[in-house]
Amino acid sequence: MSADTSLDAARERLIVGLDVSTWAEAEAIVDALGDEITWYKIGYQLAFAGGLPLVGELARAGKRVFLDLKLLDISNTVEKGVESAMALGASMLTVHAYPHAMRAARRASEGSALTVLGVTVLTSLDEADLAEAGYGLSIPALVERRALAAREIGIGGVVASAEEAARLRPLVGDEMAIVTPGIRPAGAAPGDQKRVATPAAALRDGASHLVVARPIVAAERPAEAARAILREMAGVLA
Ligand code: C5P
Repeated sequence: MSADTSLDAARERLIVGLDVSTWAEAEAIVDALGDEITWYKIGYQLAFAGGLPLVGELARAGKRVFLDLKLLDISNTVEKGVESAMALGASMLTVHAYPHAMRAARRASEGSALTVLGVTVLTSLDEADLAEAGYGLSIPALVERRALAAREIGIGGVVASAEEAARLRPLVGDEMAIVTPGIRPAGAAPGDQKRVATPAAALRDGASHLVVARPIVAAERPAEAARAILREMAGVLA
């Protein structure tokens, strides 16, 4: 692959988290990154601060949006919610990886370009949190069970740490997306992330897409920081 082709392939796999509370801040990031970045993630913080119309605006500008709203409700409500997210222009959407929610999301998105992702177990939870919430399975067992259910039900992928990606890739096969946060280029500040992987290591571990926020959006020169990460990814994808 030529260097340009590998960079384009990397651009299909790098998702920048718009972890800000105002439309103006989000627009400033998107403007600063320009053509370097194709994918953006919008979560609760921006969505509930009036950021939802930005999904359509970004889509019309040729960008793709991962709407990280982690849906969980009765099947009918999830199904209708997914339909509305598609109408907004989202390309990826998360649901908690409960089988009924994944089935409802699959029904709503079947035949569309939307990739539904299952959040197996939130990576901030530990075994004690799970026990407190009434679960009887260990975290690895629950992650595995839900990832297998995601594959069986036929949704597009799962969200997982790089460490989990290595374990899940053989279980879910080559086609499913594994979207991985907690990415830090060598030498970058981990912030509150406890388990981090470099962009190259996460791809090698089986991640298909990387979610990066602070190492790009809080950088002095965001476009340069993005380019460095894209180059590192391109080195693995070449
Ligand atoms: O700034 P940083 O690169 O750590 O941001 C990572 C993004 O991925 C944030 O939007 C964060 O909420 C999200 N995320 C995460 N860990 C998860 C799930 C989502 O860091 N397990």
